[in-house]
Amino acid sequence: MSVMYLRGGRPLEGELTVHGAKNSVLPILAACLLARGPVTLRNCPRLTDVTAALAILRRLGCRAEQEGHTVLVDPTGASGCSISEEQMRAMRSSIIFLGPLLARMGEAHLTYPGGCELGPRPIDLHLGAIRALGCEVREDRGIHCQGQPRGGEIQLALPSVGATENAMLCAVGADGPTTITNAAREPEIGDLQSFLNHLGAKVQGAGSSTVTVEGGRTLSGGEYTVMGDRIVAATLLSAAACAGGRVRLSGVDWRHLATVLSVFHQAGCRVESRMEYVELERTRDLPLKGVPTIRTAPYPGFPTDAQAPVMAALAAAQGCTLFVETMFDSRYRHVPELIRMGADITTEGRVALVRGVERLHGARVEASDLRGGGALAAAALGAEGTTVLSGLNHIDRGYEGLEGMLQALGADVERREEA
Ligand code: EPZ
Repeated sequence: MSVMYLRGGRPLEGELTVHGAKNSVLPILAACLLARGPVTLRNCPRLTDVTAALAILRRLGCRAEQEGHTVLVDPTGASGCSISEEQMRAMRSSIIFLGPLLARMGEAHLTYPGGCELGPRPIDLHLGAIRALGCEVREDRGIHCQGQPRGGEIQLALPSVGATENAMLCAVGADGPTTITNAAREPEIGDLQSFLNHLGAKVQGAGSSTVTVEGGRTLSGGEYTVMGDRIVAATLLSAAACAGGRVRLSGVDWRHLATVLSVFHQAGCRVESRMEYVELERTRDLPLKGVPTIRTAPYPGFPTDAQAPVMAALAAAQGCTLFVETMFDSRYRHVPELIRMGADITTEGRVALVRGVERLHGARVEASDLRGGGALAAAALGAEGTTVLSGLNHIDRGYEGLEGMLQALGADVERREEA
């Protein structure tokens, strides 16, 4: 089993280009099923979730391979319409293949993605969107969908990212126009819209609450560059806030991080945001300050995926911070691990009260979900002594070589094999 050894106390210093966004490349890979020719994707991160998505595309009859940060998908041979239980369990966001499978094949058979470390992950909004486009959905020991989608009106009860993306992808293959209201506004949906339009679709409104899709268009193959990962950026900025120093990140649009940058500024960091880069500086001898309340919300609110990394920074601060996690039931699994490092945090349901302490100390801690793992690595760099972090399989789902990124910024970190 591999573990990360992180020695705290050294300020971070340096510049880095953030890798491509996991939550953008996954729906774009599913969207490749809609293309009638080969697709080349650039700036694709090397992540276990990307590997899982490529395996699904191959099982569906596509050619799909990754060379470095370039992915080639040739969907011309696509013939399958089923995704196995094992594949759905390997990556619960595989539900994103439902919409494109129906649009391409007129049929789709998947199993329930099941919950994950964050709690139950319902898909009722995904299935409701598919039904609104006239497809038959039968739930009988799995999800069995039939029918060529027809354009229609989809009202989402919640601005679900995945349901918005599934609805868009299904609607591209529908005959007739579709309107999606109460759509999620995350930047990754904008990236998906740009990709689809680049291949010949006609999708408008991504980033707003109403997305319209003109159906019945055949998509060509093409080339596309995936956007940078704003949550990886938030995690690296948090590491700098924990350890002190100055870090400059390029490859992400600072506007996609505005709420996170505002919190770091309120906590006493110097934050500089330009179109080309985001920079955070924190002088070590100036303690961070607690921030009154951080409430997670759908974009453009404070991103739930940044909650754990930001909490890691505010655990060692002067003053308290109240976190309210509105998106998922159990998104505080990093809290007991931060407490093992000396943090003073009380949770009650979806609320966490962080009472800042002077400094955390190293400990043996375990990641039990992706962003919680990133948070523990960041916390370790500001802690006194050495932290041994396990559960790296979670981290490798969404961070491409986290230890390498931190080393590039001057951190004393290494990955070792342990019996
Ligand atoms: C996406 O998950 C991201 N994953 C998550 O990132 C992110 O935390 C989440 O959006 C919120 O921003 C990917 O993009 C692959 P939702 P998704 O549907 O689409 C409820 C990470 O760390 N809901 O927007 O699954 C749901 O329970 C991951 O990279 C329903 O009730 O999130 C939640 O409370 C973790 N019914 C809320 O909506 C549904 O059918 C928002 O979930 C679907 C969702």
